[in-house]
Amino acid sequence: MILVTGATGNVGRCVVRRLAQAGERVRALARDPSAAGFPAGVQACTGDLSAPESLAHAFEGVDRLFLFTPASGTGSIARVAREAGVRRVVLLSSAATQKADPRINPIAARHAAAEAAVREAGLRWTFLRPDSFAANACAWADTIRREGVVRAAYPDAQRNPIHEDDVAAVAVAVLLDAAHDSHAYALTGPAVITQAGQVRTIAEAIGKPLRFEVLTREQALAARPAGTPVEVAERLLDYALKSVATAPAVTDAVERVTGRPARAFAQWARDHAAAFV
Ligand SMILES: NC(=O)c1ccc[n+]([C@@H]2O[C@H](COP(=O)([O-])OP(=O)(O)OC[C@H]3O[C@@H](n4cnc5c(N)ncnc54)[C@H](OP(=O)(O)O)[C@@H]3O)[C@@H](O)[C@H]2O)c1
Repeated sequence: MILVTGATGNVGRCVVRRLAQAGERVRALARDPSAAGFPAGVQACTGDLSAPESLAHAFEGVDRLFLFTPASGTGSIARVAREAGVRRVVLLSSAATQKADPRINPIAARHAAAEAAVREAGLRWTFLRPDSFAANACAWADTIRREGVVRAAYPDAQRNPIHEDDVAAVAVAVLLDAAHDSHAYALTGPAVITQAGQVRTIAEAIGKPLRFEVLTREQALAARPAGTPVEVAERLLDYALKSVATAPAVTDAVERVTGRPARAFAQWARDHAAAFV
């Protein structure tokens, strides 16, 4: 049995669907699974990653775990999992562990701490370290739908956006093959594209012209999504600014692990066009 956490999220939802399609026994954890609409045959399970001791029931009969990195407490989750009989963990980590300084970058710190905790728990592990999610463009959906505009800083910031279902395809390949134990995979999309290029690509996918209104850094900070701490928004803007001059690397890890190349941002935009109209 495989337990998928973060099962209602961008990646976890695709992991659940792919495992169910592969005929695997899957349990999907969410704080409120009643609204999740998991595929037929998937066991829905209520649980909160911020209360690790309460998760023992979720781990019963589970040998493999897809773990969404929680805000904290990964060590306790890993310990409870190991005591319940879990053997292998596939951790949804982040490229930030390799690209940023955990002393000043909270995203890097959270994922680096989770990787260390999983290693130390004595579980077999594989770390998935995606760079930018294509799904981050969903943050533009509201103003695209209402006003045909994207407001952001640094239109020439370069991304290597990865389709969430490509991260999931890697996760499933890894969950089903222990040969991936003790590997960390840097995951990216197949090509670099600027933010302005992403907006043009979405415009093509929905057949509607879109404007890019350039914000100053201060305006972008003030307009950060509700719930995003200012220091996280600052580091994301730092990352975007740096990428104007230095393109992020592109890796072939999706193809190496799954046998199929990563999907282009244009494909992601077509797959998600309905979110922008
Ligand atoms: N965005 C990027 O560019 C990027 C790049 C690299 C790595 N990452 C990492 O990828 C992860 C985000 O993945 P995603 O986009 O697939 O997720 P997401 O769409 O943001 O969804 C979050 C998921 O986590 C679950 N969750 C959150 N807190 C929980 C808790 N206390 N207990 C149980 N479940 C909890 C939510 O479940 P509920 O149904 O219970 O709410 C939901 O399924 C983050 O760790 C992020 O740092 C993101």
